[in-house]
Amino acid sequence: MLPSVLPTESDHVPVLADEIVARLDPRPGETVIDGTFGAGGHSALLASRLKGQGKLIAIDRDPSVTPYFDRLRRSTSLKMRLLSGEFSTVLEQLSSNGVRADAILLDLGVSSMQLDRPERGFSYAVDAPLDMRMDPSAEYSARELVNESDERELADIFKRYGEERHARQIARAIVRRRGSRPFERTGDLAETIKAAIPAPARFGEGHPAKRVFQALRIEVNDELGAVERALPAALEMLRPGGRLAVISFHSLEDRIVKQFLRKQEGGCTCPPDFPVCVCGSEPVLRASPRRAIRPSAAEVARNPRAQSARLRVGIKVG
Ligand SMILES: C[S@@+](CC[C@H](N)C(=O)[O-])C[C@H]1O[C@@H](n2cnc3c(N)ncnc32)[C@H](O)[C@@H]1O
Repeated sequence: MLPSVLPTESDHVPVLADEIVARLDPRPGETVIDGTFGAGGHSALLASRLKGQGKLIAIDRDPSVTPYFDRLRRSTSLKMRLLSGEFSTVLEQLSSNGVRADAILLDLGVSSMQLDRPERGFSYAVDAPLDMRMDPSAEYSARELVNESDERELADIFKRYGEERHARQIARAIVRRRGSRPFERTGDLAETIKAAIPAPARFGEGHPAKRVFQALRIEVNDELGAVERALPAALEMLRPGGRLAVISFHSLEDRIVKQFLRKQEGGCTCPPDFPVCVCGSEPVLRASPRRAIRPSAAEVARNPRAQSARLRVGIKVG
């Protein structure tokens, strides 16, 4: 049997793929950065538009994407590099080394391979070690978070990142249970969450542990902090006319991207009652289109994971 890290039929399906290719519109000779390589679905489409001329720089903090990268590299004569690390750090380093890009993609969140491999500990549906690190060498996993945070911190995380209505009851139940035995496995945690919420709420939308698992994952991987740091670095790297596309799956991520685009296209930051501009700030980015692009009903029917996707695109002003 093939080791599970090799590409399989159940690989991640790229979300909003046609829209990404149309909006990033890579042309031969350009430099494209895919900050969230995953299974390389978007990268493969973008690479094919470069027609062997130009460069593709792939980034991922999960080293298990390497076989996917190798597979793509074997299929093209394009110059390609895979940089392992957190995208905001890698983009900052590339930028300070003078690397410039024509198109940058961030397809946020986790991949299907990460979610579907029980040993990664992302899933509430399968019992596995509690982990949730996208980068398995990172120090801090969901195990430490769940066993070491105080009750109030846990409740805040569940509320903020999971919009969990029963955040306080769940946090209290976790702290009570870990007093006798620390959490080691996703199954124990999912059971504790289920038992902590009122019986009618257990039969609401989806699995009762879904929102708490999402919240833990966002916190463990500092997902929002990474986006906040990456956007200015990406903008800095873009050449005039360069395109930045970000796909978010969570309203807090989308808000960060939207506010960043608004700020960068705003230009003047003088108070509105100033008769003339004294700050001299010019718009540096144009959001195009103004609103987020959402997947079609047909795409959601084919790939239910696309349901909450929102794509925002900015073009650097030349
Ligand atoms: C939604 S998947 C991308 C799928 C990819 N677009 C494709 O078509 O296969 C997100 C990927 O980005 C990586 N990732 C998420 N946040 C990251 C970050 N801050 N730095 C580096 N990689 C990150 C994850 O490890 C995962 O492999």
